[in-house]
Amino acid sequence: MGKVFATVSGKGGVGKSSVTAGLGIALAQKGKRVLLVDMDEGLRCLDLLLGVDKTAVFDLSDILSGKAIEDAVYPCAYKEGLFLVPAPAKTGLIVNDALRSFATSVKGMFDIVIFDFPAGINEEQYLSLPEDTLFLTVAIPDPVSVRDAAAISDVLYSKNLEARLIINRFKYKLKRKLRFKNVDEIIDTATLRLIGIVPESDEIALFSLKKKLPKRSRAFKAFSRITDRLEGVGKPLPKAKKI
Ligand SMILES: Nc1ncnc2c1ncn2[C@@H]1O[C@H](COP(=O)(O)OP(=O)(O)OP(=O)(O)O)[C@@H](O)[C@H]1O
Ligand SMILES: [Mg+2]
Repeated sequence: MGKVFATVSGKGGVGKSSVTAGLGIALAQKGKRVLLVDMDEGLRCLDLLLGVDKTAVFDLSDILSGKAIEDAVYPCAYKEGLFLVPAPAKTGLIVNDALRSFATSVKGMFDIVIFDFPAGINEEQYLSLPEDTLFLTVAIPDPVSVRDAAAISDVLYSKNLEARLIINRFKYKLKRKLRFKNVDEIIDTATLRLIGIVPESDEIALFSLKKKLPKRSRAFKAFSRITDRLEGVGKPLPKAKKI
């Protein structure tokens, strides 16, 4: 049985889809068979990021309404072992009961499954994922984003769902100018255990154009450290300057 993760955030545009793609690439690099599921109905994104937008015919809504899973699972041409189920192009098509059985099936078919959620709180959908799903709450070092991460954290804890924090777009030089003086303060405010920090990165910003995340980039190394931790391998945080 594979492991299931879900990337979530209160505030939009904090990098959930970029983090999902980055983690998927780092996990596939380690030889895992990885499925990414775009949950952002009507505003899909991962198909474009991963270069399957031209080939994708079916999407998650087709599977949920009876199509074979394999028909809407698209291999990512840029990374062996990485697959995507695109989000429905229209809203209102993700039915919770069908989502529950889809999630259970793909857990048995892949080593890792990551559900990339839209911003906001989608309680019913969170509860439709397998019980041992680990929620990765993405926040940027900005007071609104961190407060929203705390709001999501409250919801996840109240439903006994396991969650961790990923701080994205970390910029050492900006650190002191922001309201948060250090990472501990962000963790305390978000009330979530930290699992990793992803730097502000040109490679991530350009990923949708280049479809490449160089292995030597800080961004790739950050994703790689997070994937180790997700697998229970301890990886210390580098010094803030080197993230
Ligand atoms: N670490 C980063 N460094 C530089 N740019 C980034 C980083 N993370 C995300 N971005 C950029 O921020 C923008 C939003 O990212 P993304 O679409 O991944 O966010 P999202 O949280 O999935 O948004 P939404 O809430 O709409 O689903 C994109 O242009 C992306 O390239
Ligand atoms: Mg997104």
